[in-house]
Order: sequence, then C-alpha cells, then structure tokens
Amino acid sequence: MSKRYTITAALPYTNGPIHIGHLAGVYVPADIYARYLRMRGKEVLFICGSDEHGVAISMKAKKEGITPKEVIDKYHNIIKKSFDDFGISFNYYGRTSSDVHRETAQEFFKTMHANDCFETQTTEQLYDAKENQFLADRYVVGTCPKCGHPEAYGDQCENCGSSLNATDLIDPKSALSGETPSLKTTTHWYLPLDRYEDFLRSWILESHKSDWKTNVLGQVKSWIEDGLKPRAVTRDLSWGIPVPVAGGENKVLYVWFDAPIGYISATKEWATQEGADWKPYWQDKNTELVHFIGKDNIVFHCIIFPSVLKAMGNYILPENVPANEFLNLEGQKLSTSKNWAVWLHEYLEDFPEKQDVLRYVLTANAPETKDNDFTWNDFQTRNNSELVAIFGNFINRVMVLMKKHYEGVVPPPNSLTKTDEATQKKLAAAPTEIAQLIEQYKFRAASQEMMQLARLGNKYLADEEPWKLIKTDPDRVATIMHTALQVAAGLAIVSEPFLPHTAQKLRKMLKLNEALGWDNVSALHLIESGHQLGEAGLLFEKIEDDAIAVQLEKLSS
Ligand code: MF3
Ligand code: ZN
Repeated sequence: MSKRYTITAALPYTNGPIHIGHLAGVYVPADIYARYLRMRGKEVLFICGSDEHGVAISMKAKKEGITPKEVIDKYHNIIKKSFDDFGISFNYYGRTSSDVHRETAQEFFKTMHANDCFETQTTEQLYDAKENQFLADRYVVGTCPKCGHPEAYGDQCENCGSSLNATDLIDPKSALSGETPSLKTTTHWYLPLDRYEDFLRSWILESHKSDWKTNVLGQVKSWIEDGLKPRAVTRDLSWGIPVPVAGGENKVLYVWFDAPIGYISATKEWATQEGADWKPYWQDKNTELVHFIGKDNIVFHCIIFPSVLKAMGNYILPENVPANEFLNLEGQKLSTSKNWAVWLHEYLEDFPEKQDVLRYVLTANAPETKDNDFTWNDFQTRNNSELVAIFGNFINRVMVLMKKHYEGVVPPPNSLTKTDEATQKKLAAAPTEIAQLIEQYKFRAASQEMMQLARLGNKYLADEEPWKLIKTDPDRVATIMHTALQVAAGLAIVSEPFLPHTAQKLRKMLKLNEALGWDNVSALHLIESGHQLGEAGLLFEKIEDDAIAVQLEKLSS
C-alpha cells in the first residue's frame, strides 16, 4: 500500500514577520518535499500554523503597548500571506489560539496527568520583584552554561541549541526590568524525560543512526549523554493555555508543550473542513511523519514531543526530522530584534513576482549541513548566470525558434544522432536523480540537478546551432527542436517543487497536457508532433547592480 505522509513545518512565532532564514531553513525545503511527493501521487498532508503562545508574544505586546491578541492577529495575517505569496503549499495553516487547539492541548495534559506521566516539583524559581512576575523562558537572559553565549534565553540558547532551565543561566537578568531576579517558591508539573532515555536511545540512536542527519543525531546524543532531566511543562504566566487540572489556577501550559500539539490540532481543523478523519495522519503506522525545523528546535522535536507522543500511547513517531542549520545574512547572524534580516513582505515589494528567484537562491545555498551565508551578490549571480542565462535562455531560444520557423507547431523528428540520443538519455534519467536527492532531504543538490537539466538543454541548442541549419538542413532542425522541446517539457515538470510559479508559467507556454507529471518524464514523449505551443513569456529577468546596491544600502541603514 502506498504510504501516507504527514509533513509538518515548525510553527512560526507570531511576534514578528518572517524572513529569509525561516524560508531557507524550514519552509522552502518542506514545500519542495511536499510538492514532490504529491507529484509522485502520494497522499500528503502538509501542516503548519502560527505559534501564538509563549513569552515571545507577551514581550512583543508589552513593548508595543498592545495586547497579545492584537500582536498575534497582526503577525498571523502577515505571515500567512507571505507563505501564500511564496507558494508554500500547506494543506492547512492553523493557529494555536484556536479553540480546537486549546481543547486538544488540554486533552493531552489531562490524559498524561491521569496516567501519572508527570511529576510535580516545588522549587525556587527566578522572580522579578519589581514586575511581580516569575521569570522563565524569554523573560530571562543570561550566559549559556554550555557555550558561554551571553544572550541565552531562560529556556534555550539560540547559539548552541541547548535547551536550558532559567535557573541554569549564569548571571541571569530579567528581560522585563533588567534587574537581577530573586528566587521564589512555586510548584509545577514536570515531564520526567529521564523515564524516556531507553526509548529515545533505541528509537533514535539505534534505529535511525544511519538515516537521520548527523547534526540532528549529534544534538540528540549530547542531550542524552548529558543526562535527561525532568522538564517543567507549566508556567506562572497569564498568556497561554490554562492548566486544566486542580492546582493549575493562574498557570498556563509551557509553550513548547502546547505548540507541537498544534500540528495535531491543525490536522483536526483541516479534517473537519474536508470531512475527513484526522486520526490516520497521526495514528496509522502506514503514515510517515516528517518534521521540518531549524536546529534550535531539535530537542523539542526529537526528545520532548516524541516523549509526549510516546506517553499518549497511540501516536506515530517522526520518521525523520531533517533539521537545517542557520542562514546568516552578509556574514552576520539574522536577527529579528536587531532588524538584521530580509523580510519576505519587503522583498516582494522590491522584487514583485520574483518569489521563485528567492526560493531558488535559498535552496541552492541552503544551510543543510552547516550554517551558510546569504549575500545579495550571490543572489544576483544565481539569478543572472543560472536562472536567466541557463534556464531562461534555453526556454527563450526554444520558444523563439519555434515561433519563427514553425508558427509554434511542433515538427516531427527525423533520424536521431548520437547527441540526440545522449540528450534523451539524460532527460530520462533526471527525474530519478532528482527524486533520490529529494528523498534524502538533499534539496541543495536536487536543485542543482534540476538546473543541470536546463544546462543540458541550453548546451544542446548551443552545440547543435539550429539557427544556422535552418536554410541548409531543415530536417535536422525539426529533430533538434522536437528533442529540445522534450527537455523543456521535462523541465516544466521537474522544476515544479523548486520553482512552482515558473513551472506553471512554462507549462502554459508549452501548453503542456495537465495530466503529465513526474512519472511521465522518462518516457520522453511529453510533447507530440503537431502540438501547438502557447504564447512565449519571460520567465526570469536580469537583476542589475543598482537593484542590489539598494538592498545593501537598506541593510546598512
Ligand atoms: N515557534 C517555534 C520557533 O519559532 C517553533 C515551534 S515548532 C512547534 O522556534 F513544534 F512547536 F510547533
Ligand atoms: Zn549555548
């Protein structure tokens, strides 16, 4: 039986818009994967939504002097629109402030509580006496005890990816008042991660030791080796999901407890909308669950959430968690608070309809195995010398020659030369080569393999020079154009996961039969003789130096 896929992409915090780092690390790779699988006829549910609880949101509200609800509504809409604009093909985009989500997360908590999956601990927690508030998570900043990063948060160090407790921080300071916090006693529910050590070791470090990415395995290993400790899943805060058991008054669920459950509640909402059953997507062994995330989310998706799923009993576990490293911008760490970023909604104002260019550049240079740098110069080069000079040029030549010599009607081929046959052979092999890379989450290499197909077509025309032969050997030109058109059609198909807008345009230009997809490319007969092509259009255009200078200027101002 063909597998079903549940693909999740990390729920972005709605405390700001999203930038190229989000797109490169999580959403573009997830989208490539989802689109590819759909093209292979798989049943895919691609889920995301807004992460609307947690201190990130309340801090932003405080800073802007508005309510948390106003913050989440504003950014939920901006983020959702950016995803739409960039063609991120979620089947459903939810939000964790929904009723279904609150009920689902509370259900998880109650069930685990009833099954003795939690421990309570009464401990001294950091407290800001001036603000009258307990401090955890992002309310407290200090030095990371693991790597020495001076701006680690109370739940996590974004530099080394370690997950922390606020009391672990060296020299903690309240992010609210800047004061050194005092200690005050409080009681919370804890998820005893130590009970899951054996399960995690055998499930990840044994069963998945050869198919998970090394960066992911490395973090999991060091976590386990450090000794798993009970982790608080409730907080003394007002913004969040109320703790649904006795003693939970004035407490909310820890955002990292409720957020991943958001994947499930979003699935429920999708299922209601579609009149489908949500359960197979989370509980059927025949479903492959894949979480796309950035490296700072590894511990939550590989240790904590799987322990919760395990505790709940009837849930499937992720088949893979292909976490990416970070993208930098012009040599510096992307930062929302320092406004060192390329915001997606602003990018589109400056480069309208160039979504695919950004998708391509971010994929070609994705931080798959190590942190990587986005530079505007590289963006320009990838656009001008790959998308324009190779992909665009090839298609443009095909369309122009076809119009000029055949009124856009595909000529029948004559006898094939060795070069024609070699070209066909490479075209036939391309879908499998690209597929293998995508299935191994090597999207960078896959995008280059796709570009390689455009390069093949471009070189074929450059070598065969049909424009020179048209007077002397029209039969040969017919064969060349017929062959080149098959490559163009193949490109319209295999480029779709990477460049969905471009692929759509190209399909229209070629008037490609909609029924033709990934699995038809290798059969080579994508466009028949006598087929009438559509109107030519421009796929990519050159980006000039001054447009790049404007972007660099914008960054430094
Ligand atoms: N909002 C988190 C972040 O931006 C990601 C949450 S992923 C989820 O780092 F699994 F919790 F949903
Ligand atoms: Zn650190």
